[in-house]
Amino acid sequence: MRLKSRFSGPLSGRARPPGDKSISHRALILGALAQGATTIDGLLEADDVLHTAQAARAFGAAVERGGDGRWTVEGAGGFKQPPETIDCGNSGTAARLLMGAASAYSISARFDGDQSLRKRPMNRIVAPLTQMGARFDSAKGTLPMVVHGGKLSGITYRSPVSSAQVKSAVLLAGLGAEGETILIEPERSRDHTERMLKVFGANIDTVEIDGVARPRVRASALKGAYLYVPGDPSSAAFPIAAALIAQKSEVRIEDLLVNPLRLGLIETLLEMGAALTFEERRDPIGEPIADLVVKTSKLRGVTPPPRRAPAMIDEFPILSVIAAFAEGETRIEGAAELRIKESDRITLMVDGLKACGVDAEELPDGLIVRGEGPKSVRGGASIRTHGDHRVAMSFLVLGLASKEPVVVDDAEMIATSFPDFPGFMRSFGAKIESA
Ligand code: S3P
Repeated sequence: MRLKSRFSGPLSGRARPPGDKSISHRALILGALAQGATTIDGLLEADDVLHTAQAARAFGAAVERGGDGRWTVEGAGGFKQPPETIDCGNSGTAARLLMGAASAYSISARFDGDQSLRKRPMNRIVAPLTQMGARFDSAKGTLPMVVHGGKLSGITYRSPVSSAQVKSAVLLAGLGAEGETILIEPERSRDHTERMLKVFGANIDTVEIDGVARPRVRASALKGAYLYVPGDPSSAAFPIAAALIAQKSEVRIEDLLVNPLRLGLIETLLEMGAALTFEERRDPIGEPIADLVVKTSKLRGVTPPPRRAPAMIDEFPILSVIAAFAEGETRIEGAAELRIKESDRITLMVDGLKACGVDAEELPDGLIVRGEGPKSVRGGASIRTHGDHRVAMSFLVLGLASKEPVVVDDAEMIATSFPDFPGFMRSFGAKIESA
């Protein structure tokens, strides 16, 4: 399916973005590991998360959809031998977190995924999980692979990468390991697993190492819980960007997750001069939430500090689009992880930006965009997305403020994270249609 976007605005209105993807995966996985009923409101019903729901069933949980975003999980108090291969689709989070959790049980589970996921590195979790006592059958360190779980021993793991998927895989394995499991990472990554484990009654706390509080878990029996999933800031980034660059716009994003470890893009946009205001902050269940008001803004280029990368890792594609409408240079560094996401996002974004007439350049671990301000971007290109949802959405947003329309070659994968993206954007007045 091809989609086309064209010059739009003013954009206006209010809407709640779909539920947070990271939290949705974790809600289903912890619900399946727990004993008793877990009720989830606001679950993201997108392909990635539906693969995790199916996996939770295969591992022995009863998972039911009660209505829009309302799901119940009746956990079996641990993972059982799955009768089938665990198909993780396009989702690295599903694969890595589920493999971590499965490691602590005496089962053998085969994991697989789509062509993109089959290329993504799994050794980053295989290494620590093997140290803990799990075994993996895989020649190349990529899917498909079989995890043989069993008796694990806790470890203190110094991860070479700041990755919430690695951290979560190790902590979930630690729930069934003897002794304590501690995770140290270079910069802190999103902490949804740690927060949610507390809600499920796990034995988790922190220990200070190198002056930073590091998560520590011990063997735990989880109890079913009630969870509420706030709006996903990584999905909200697209309407936020659209409102900033489309002329005379003002939109209100409701019920947004405002966990500080997810707000690197917002921090960066404020430095660029964006008119963003948080209202009605609240904290119902373990995660902070607010509404965000966004107005069209005159932006200037910035160099976000590389240590901020984990707090905005999924937002670099859309930041590079916003940067094209700012005045001056935006330099993104410390983001080498972008090359091993659903696609090589550095190459694809630079190629697409150039095709739209933007001055952009690849760096080994990032990119440079030299913006010339609002109304400067030509657009008028057909973009190669390589099946990457965030690349597709980024260029559709670019087309809302460029002189000529933009077409993305394959918009189907948007359903992995943001099922009704075109409808959501149209509700603000964005012109997005089939091409
Ligand atoms: C995620 C962590 C990040 C992020 C991904 C979701 C998670 O990946 O890019 O979209 O839910 O833990 P890494 O841990 O590989 O950085």
